[in-house]
Amino acid sequence: MRNSEHRITPDQLRSRWWFDNPEHPGTTALCIERYMNYGITLEELTSGRPIIGICQSGSDLTPCNRHHIELVKRVKEGIRAAGGVPFEFPLHPIHENARRPTAALDRNLAYLGLVEVLHGYPLDGVVLTTGCDKTTPASLMAAATVNIPAIVLSGGPMLNGWHGNERVGSGTVVWEMRKRLAAGDIDYAEFLSRITDSAPSVGHCNTMGTASTMNSMAEALGMSLPGSAMIPAPYKERAMVAYDTGTRIVDMVWEDLRPSDILTRNAFENAICVCSAIGGSSNAPIHINAIARHTGVALTNDDWQSVGHDIPLLANIMPAGAYLGEEFYRAGGVPAILHELLAAGRLHGESLTVNGRTLAANILGRETRDPEVIRRYDNPLVDRAGFLNLKGNLFDSALMKTSVISAGFRQRFLSDPDDPNAFEGPVAVFDGSEDYHARIDDPRLDIGDRTILVMRGAGPIGHPGGAEVVNMQPPEALIRRGIEALPCIGDGRQSGTSGSPSILNASPEAAAGGGLSLLEDGDRLRVDLDRGEVMLLVDDAELVARRGRLEQQGGYRYPAHQTPWQEIQRTLVEPLDQGMTLKGATEYQDVARQSPPR
Ligand code: FES
Ligand code: MG
Repeated sequence: MRNSEHRITPDQLRSRWWFDNPEHPGTTALCIERYMNYGITLEELTSGRPIIGICQSGSDLTPCNRHHIELVKRVKEGIRAAGGVPFEFPLHPIHENARRPTAALDRNLAYLGLVEVLHGYPLDGVVLTTGCDKTTPASLMAAATVNIPAIVLSGGPMLNGWHGNERVGSGTVVWEMRKRLAAGDIDYAEFLSRITDSAPSVGHCNTMGTASTMNSMAEALGMSLPGSAMIPAPYKERAMVAYDTGTRIVDMVWEDLRPSDILTRNAFENAICVCSAIGGSSNAPIHINAIARHTGVALTNDDWQSVGHDIPLLANIMPAGAYLGEEFYRAGGVPAILHELLAAGRLHGESLTVNGRTLAANILGRETRDPEVIRRYDNPLVDRAGFLNLKGNLFDSALMKTSVISAGFRQRFLSDPDDPNAFEGPVAVFDGSEDYHARIDDPRLDIGDRTILVMRGAGPIGHPGGAEVVNMQPPEALIRRGIEALPCIGDGRQSGTSGSPSILNASPEAAAGGGLSLLEDGDRLRVDLDRGEVMLLVDDAELVARRGRLEQQGGYRYPAHQTPWQEIQRTLVEPLDQGMTLKGATEYQDVARQSPPR
């Protein structure tokens, strides 16, 4: 356990190398004169105050985080009130809905950029402003690598979306309404109106998509102030916690409280439990495994199953539940989830958090204020609601989010009395989403109500960054017959706002020679959830022959690189089950301490 009495002195501040370094008077002077030229005083730079970076993730290109431009004014006031000097700088923009080919391509790019900034500039600590999906993992991965005192300030979810008296959740409504549009129940104008209604204010998605999940994970990990993750973006408490975050980071610098003190194996296990209990995004294991690897903690998808699968679903929020961010916050937010899990003996309560106290101390008395929205542990929405880590002869790892297996899906595919947790069927195979859209309604594919839809070429190499396309909707003809979902399997990802129980993130991906590259239309697959297996029912000799033919053709084909970064990322990226990190990058740890600037 860390000694909380430990404090550093002003001459131990990292920024002194730049602003008070008698061995390099020229460098020091140059640094001082240029930072003074916009009004920072000599006293601020040279009197031993902590210099605090504020990594600004909001911009016109990243609308989900844009109100951080306002919020950081309160962060700066907090930093100054506590005796620090704030320096704001930008994060590479990451916006989920607009970035092509996918926002996930930029997680590692933003990570690399932030590592260089935190390492190479005169910063003693940093406030990480987060929100839209990948801004949170990119920032935490960089803070883990550099290991200077760091605290997360999320932007918070949007207000609830309403269409008449119906709650409409951002992202989730799109998946639902696409089916209604395909079935002919609504027209395009109605489709558009519901979707725009789902996003009524500043903030990130108001559902438990990847943004809400990752910011809840940051709080569960101990990296943001207790109760802060899910304060809706426009609420006054959001600006208040921005101020508190500013004051706290200055103290964290004096206490030398670093990410490595907080991001322990136990903290990651806590995050896994919370992810199950909130019905969190299937992108969370990718990002959390990445943060763990950058911290030097071994974490795999087996841990997600062994630690998290039997945790029940407590949060009644879309896509797994019925409500949205405002009700979740009013019911007690992440502290109420932690409270239930701790009382049930499912958390490591002694884990340290950014406020210097333990997780258990932070949540004393923070029980659920609305047991309909945040359920009691013994009255959950779903038992055993975490991820299953499936394996077999097609891949080494693929995840299934069990909290979203609907009663209808269970009844159609998992209700054979002799074999209640297994199903078998022929596959229809698609190579990327363009191929899917071109062929899904082609009657020659003969897709029936037992067909398993397979998406490949959608992993981090096949579709640079990995595409969120595995949750495929059945052909329109089937939807019109009332079959709204078929089992889906793929080497890509799916949006955290989707309620589809797909088997996804399959690793290794087809483009890296994974077994999915050998599949052909009409092959039969057997999925057995009790055994944790997905098996292709084709004999080995045939698979060897198929692999031989594929290799003769030069391997699985994917589209050409469009930019230098796409090529670099494809060359270096590791599989989704390992966190989609860059080869070699996870070997750099504690960078600020081990390599003083030269
Ligand atoms: Fe940005 Fe959902 S699209 S948070
Ligand atoms: Mg997404």
